[in-house]
Amino acid sequence: MSAAQRIDGKAEAARVLDSLRDDVERLREQGCAPCLAVVLVGDDPASDVYVRNKVLRARETGIESVEHRLPANTSEDTLLTLIAALNADPAVHGILVQMPLPAGLDEHAVIDAIAPAKDVDGFHPANVGQLVLGDATLAPCTPNGCLHLLRQVAGDLSGKHAVVVGRSNIVGKPMAALLLQANCSVTVVHSRSTNAAALCRQADIVVAAVGRPRLLDAGWIKPGAIVIDVGINRIEIDGQPKLVGDVDFDSVAPVAGAITPVPGGVGPMTIAFLMKNTIAAAVRQQAMRDAIAA
Ligand code: GUN
Repeated sequence: MSAAQRIDGKAEAARVLDSLRDDVERLREQGCAPCLAVVLVGDDPASDVYVRNKVLRARETGIESVEHRLPANTSEDTLLTLIAALNADPAVHGILVQMPLPAGLDEHAVIDAIAPAKDVDGFHPANVGQLVLGDATLAPCTPNGCLHLLRQVAGDLSGKHAVVVGRSNIVGKPMAALLLQANCSVTVVHSRSTNAAALCRQADIVVAAVGRPRLLDAGWIKPGAIVIDVGINRIEIDGQPKLVGDVDFDSVAPVAGAITPVPGGVGPMTIAFLMKNTIAAAVRQQAMRDAIAA
């Protein structure tokens, strides 16, 4: 059976959230109630579940949350007007617009409109720039959660060869930047790579974020490698709906040193780091207001 350590993201996320509760309490004692605004446009069922979970976790952590649900035919002007109002609202510290947006809405324009100080996703070009420069305060939540799990399993990552599979703006690119910052040698493989499996087989660390169900099997993995599976793919097996990752867990687990399951691996960490970013944003905004008032 499975030789790999099963990395329990659910348990680790619960530990992170527990420690954040104390931070929120201290902030509240200082008169600042951290608040996250979540915007969902359209009725994509997966996005609906993600948004509900984010709001739920915020409440459990003591973070205020406001939900804005807009119909799929919302105009870009309407969405940008809402974002401008949230930017200007001193009670709101974090703004998250759930992606993907319905066709016809320009994701870049929407991300650009969010005040960088409130961009708890870390998607704004100003925050991406800081991430690449190595001094990010609001780094994207999923890659940050992956890095946390990697450090829990392996400690210092210096000198390790990490292969990131996928080059999305949400996961692949920021993951590569964070691993580089952690002193890894980083390779990014993607749909145009000619030798993806062979490159991956050289890695001490594999982060799979391509959105292709069970693409990576044992042939992609060096014995003992740490495998982080970011994929959340909904497929049918024997007529039953099932959630699977980008990694074929049953094939890879006997080979890997450690592996995240889907579900219960990276997913809960994303939400925990969203809460962490919301608190960090609140602390900075409060400090700025205090400095102006002094
Ligand atoms: N869609 C998938 N992942 C994410 C995420 O981390 N943030 C936002 N805003 N949308 C997403």
